[in-house]
Amino acid sequence: MTEPMIAFHEGARLFHLSAPGLSYVIGIDEDNRLVELYWGPPLSETNDGLDLSYLMRLYPEGASFEMKPIRRPYLVPSIGYGWYGSPAVQAVNDQGDNMTDLRYVSHEILHHKPALEGLPSTHVSDTGASSEVPTLVLHLEDALTHLQAALFFSLIGTGEHFALARHMELTNEGSAPLTLTHMASAQSAVPAGQRPDQALQVLHLKGAWARERQIVRTAAGEAAYRIESQKGASSHYENPFLALVRKSTTEDTGDVYAMNFVYSGSFEALCETPDAAFTFLQMGLNSAVHQWRLEPSGTFVTPEVVQVYSSHGLNGMSHIYHDLYRHCLGNSLFQHRARPLLLNSWEGLGITINEQDTLQLARQAKELGVDMLVLDDGWFANRNDDKRSLGDWYPSPEKFPHGLKWLAEKVREEGLLFGLWMEPEMISPDSDLYRSHPDWCLHVDGRERSLARTQLILDLSRREVQDYLIQTIENVLNSAPISYLKWDYNRNMTEPFSSALPPERKMESQHRYMLGLYRVLGEVTAAFPQVLFESCSGGGGRFDAGMLSYMCQTWTSDDTDAYERLKIQYGTSLVYPASCMVAHISDVPNSQTGRRTPLKTRAYAAMGGCFGLEIDPGHASDSEKEEIRKYVEEARSLQKIAQEGELDRLISPFGDSNMAAWQFSLENEVLVYAFRRLSLPNTMPVRLCLTNLPEQTQYEDEEGHRYSGGQLMHAGLVLRFDGQDFDAVRIHLKKV
Ligand code: GLA
Repeated sequence: MTEPMIAFHEGARLFHLSAPGLSYVIGIDEDNRLVELYWGPPLSETNDGLDLSYLMRLYPEGASFEMKPIRRPYLVPSIGYGWYGSPAVQAVNDQGDNMTDLRYVSHEILHHKPALEGLPSTHVSDTGASSEVPTLVLHLEDALTHLQAALFFSLIGTGEHFALARHMELTNEGSAPLTLTHMASAQSAVPAGQRPDQALQVLHLKGAWARERQIVRTAAGEAAYRIESQKGASSHYENPFLALVRKSTTEDTGDVYAMNFVYSGSFEALCETPDAAFTFLQMGLNSAVHQWRLEPSGTFVTPEVVQVYSSHGLNGMSHIYHDLYRHCLGNSLFQHRARPLLLNSWEGLGITINEQDTLQLARQAKELGVDMLVLDDGWFANRNDDKRSLGDWYPSPEKFPHGLKWLAEKVREEGLLFGLWMEPEMISPDSDLYRSHPDWCLHVDGRERSLARTQLILDLSRREVQDYLIQTIENVLNSAPISYLKWDYNRNMTEPFSSALPPERKMESQHRYMLGLYRVLGEVTAAFPQVLFESCSGGGGRFDAGMLSYMCQTWTSDDTDAYERLKIQYGTSLVYPASCMVAHISDVPNSQTGRRTPLKTRAYAAMGGCFGLEIDPGHASDSEKEEIRKYVEEARSLQKIAQEGELDRLISPFGDSNMAAWQFSLENEVLVYAFRRLSLPNTMPVRLCLTNLPEQTQYEDEEGHRYSGGQLMHAGLVLRFDGQDFDAVRIHLKKV
């Protein structure tokens, strides 16, 4: 196996970043601007090194009225000197113009990956990442304003799979303040293909509440493509992920060029084709809502983009992201531990839950075989409906007269761990907190404070609000034996400004909010390493690598309908591993779709993530309870394979597909889940081919049939579905 490394070829004026599966080449052009020359499969160097300067000829001077070499794939383009695409970096200076011309000055090659001040980022951990992370730092400067940029490129991975982690640090070395209006974290170019099957397509994860991360794949190049969130959260609507694939790319074959943002707030990602020769991807903070005033000597750090190339299709891309996010993101002790199987009170009992209900639920949960009871919304202050009390984090004296400690201990006496829900970033106008601090929410003086779910958002850009929150959450966690905290965030930002910031800094409010949130999350999770934290945002409205840096699992969606979940989980799995996708069995008819799906199907869908229950056992018959108990035990015995194994998607539920299927492989075991949407009359059994197995290895299924890996991949398994809609099949193979 080759080691990741970074070489500078002085004569050819280029940097070659290479790792297993990847080469990335940056050139310095005749004007000292940086040009991305190559991003793709590994390039072998010649005895003379690597000279790609001839590729500059791809990007000529242009026609006579195009004065400059405008059509080059610059690394940090800006407008004003001949580039007419979207700028990656732009600063308004004291002369009033926004020309920003960053040119190469020097570079450093480091052996480690520096942390990003105040922001989450990928890092080396002791669970498999290579300890050396070669990092290239390119130093650029605008000669007139003295804005300096340091561009960071780290080759980070786990031995087999490597990604390029990028960010930028902008420092004002001039004597006048600058206003940053564009500060993308990364821009990269993908060369056009000459054959029709090599045509580029853009792929992203679009959605809405209860319909998160649906895969969209469409032609690139005809017009600019922009996905974004301005909502103050990475959002249900677009995940901060954008990829370019070829028309011929499949789950297992072909090129994929992808970017994913390690950030939980408003972002933008672009795909533009300024010239037939290449299409570029750009990702960073959303320039519509983020600006930053940079005083002399001040530095601004952009969040990190994790950039991945795969020549093995979308599954190949997912393997790289999954490996990286399981081993090099966050520090949770639970990352590689068996997660407790839990029953959550929300869908079954709702907000009116009280002490007696909770204790009864604990007894029922124990009978079903789970490890933990989670008390969701409804336990605090006057929370009898969803219109009040956010901010008043003490147990409701009416509903929970004996308090949290008593309750948690009672639950533990039943043999279960106790978990709790909070929505710490929010404040209800009807709360003691709001009555004492009406200025602690995001708002604009003189304008209406728009409510959503009758709540406002605390102004986490303010240090005193951060301190208050840290103290409040710590008080709750110290008040009782609490083993798990579900951290919810149930509305998008409006009037997204801090009243504590001066006018010239108002546009910094959203990013300062995120920095404040990350500080709070960092402190609270570090103070309670033994507590399992789960992120949630009206389901999966903040399913991003930023939140996963602090909490190793996220509630995937408020839609628990098994059929809808197949799409949501399939789309989510493009980037995020099953170990962070929380998936529960809920009652039927489903509360979001009204659909009835078999218990088996709900169970198998939930086994594709962190398994749990979201049911009211009081409504279940004895035989249903027996069946649930069986699935809880099954989930427990198979949990490790889904959490630690490699996921390969086999059949997509999108489009007109009548099926979905995926496979997990871990050391000696392979676990296959297949789902069929509608039952058809008089049909043949289905043949399902697996993937990514060693050809010669022998496997045996639970009925004693033996197969070679090659046989499973090329001849396939035969699946028999029942004669009912929404049926599911599980096959567990073990190496012989
Ligand atoms: C959000 C979450 C749900 C539940 C409710 C409680 O919608 O996604 O799981 O916790 O809030 O209000």
